[in-house]
Order: sequence, then C-alpha cells, then structure tokens
Amino acid sequence: MNKKIIIGNWKLNGNKKKIKRDIKKIEKKINTKNCIVSIAPPIVYMSYIHKKIKKIKLTSQNIDIKYYGSYTGDISSLMLKDIGVKYVIIGHSERRIYHKENNEIIFKKILSSLKFNLKPILCIGENIKEYNKKNSTNVCKKQINYLIKKKKSLFKKIIIAYEPIWAIGTGKNASIKHISKIHLFIKKQLVEINKKIKILYGGSVNINNYQDIIKQKNVDGFLIGASSLNSDIFIKIVNNTNNIINNLK
Ligand code: PGA
Repeated sequence: MNKKIIIGNWKLNGNKKKIKRDIKKIEKKINTKNCIVSIAPPIVYMSYIHKKIKKIKLTSQNIDIKYYGSYTGDISSLMLKDIGVKYVIIGHSERRIYHKENNEIIFKKILSSLKFNLKPILCIGENIKEYNKKNSTNVCKKQINYLIKKKKSLFKKIIIAYEPIWAIGTGKNASIKHISKIHLFIKKQLVEINKKIKILYGGSVNINNYQDIIKQKNVDGFLIGASSLNSDIFIKIVNNTNNIINNLK
C-alpha cells in the first residue's frame, strides 16, 4: 500500500525555543513506516530545522516566481532546493485571499517549483458561499481546468490538497461524505492525466476526526494546520495513522 502523506503547516507560528523542542520530539517519536511526514515551518527557521531532521521532510509554505535577481523579499525555488526543501504549498487559500494570488500566479509558481524538482502541493477548494450553493465540485473543476489548459502534464507531478476554505481554522471539518465525494470527483477529473494522483485533505483535521477521514479510499493524507502546532497531537495523528494503515494491509 502507498504511504500516506502528512504535512504539518505551522503557518506564522512558533519561535526558536518552541521549534527546537518540537522538532526534537517529532524526530524522536514519529513513525514513518507507512507515512511520509513533513513540516512546513516559517521560512526563516528552515535552514536550522534541516540540520536537525532525518525522518521528516521540509515543506515550504510559499515560493515566488523568480529564481534570483532584484526581487526584494522574494523566495526562490532555487534557494529552497539549496537548503533541502522537498515540497512547496502553492495556492493555499490564505495566499489566494491575503496576497491576491490568482490561478495565473499559481500556475507560474508551480512551474517555478518544478524547475528545481520541488514537489508542489496545490491547494484547491470552495468558500462557504460556494459550498452552501452546492458549487464545491464546480469550483474545484474550474481551479483544475485553468491549469489543465495551461499545461496538463503538470498534474503528473503535483500533489493536490483539497481544503474547503470554510473548514480551515474553524474547527468544522467537512463531513466524510463530502470529502469522499470531492476526492472522488477530483480523481475522476484527472484520471486520464494521472491515475495515481494523490489528494490530501485539509481543514480542521484534529485528534477526533482524523481516523474516519484517513480510512476513506481516496484520501491520501492530510494537510494539518492548528493541530500540528501541538507536537504531541501531531505525533499521535501520524503514529496512529501508521497503525490504521498496518491494519488495512
Ligand atoms: P487547519 O489548517 O488544520 O488549522 O484548519 C489547515 C490548512 O490551512 O492547511
């Protein structure tokens, strides 16, 4: 059975002391037998973390389009590669909303990350209005189709994270039925391009709901925000997921 992918997105949280303590604990206790585990820390701490990890991988929360030059404040895929980053989150709703990142920018960021062999994790998902109007599948389809029209082979190389915006940071995860429906829909959309595409779920994954979600056929892992900030909870989610996969084998 394929390994599940579990990524902890720390967003704009943490400090030297907490990060040192958490990374040490995660590295010591995490079981990566059936899971690929990665942390997306604030970028300023990545070099430090890279020196301390063996089992877990590094994910960047962001990337910019240019590789080097006069682009003040930008983050380059070339440099992320240089410090040992493996994955890059692209199109997260917080960046779409607060930084006005549109599908074209997202397309360019995917190209930029692939140029240096960083694996993009493309976030898609609907907002609450769209959800209430039963437009979730349409929204995902539009986000995917924009990229298919640009360059469909991208989908051979990326991971998708389905993250309904209304579920992010709200404590209200999507129902199992909804998650299964959307993941299946996305897989069907992409089956001709990549029948092995991985789809993670994100949006208020926590210690009480991860077990039911991970057992769904088309859920290949998690993108976890708030619950990954507590290292004990994060370790529990990963290690129990390992056991669940063992039992499913
Ligand atoms: P959350 O965040 O787990 O806090 O809802 C998920 C995400 O933003 O990726």
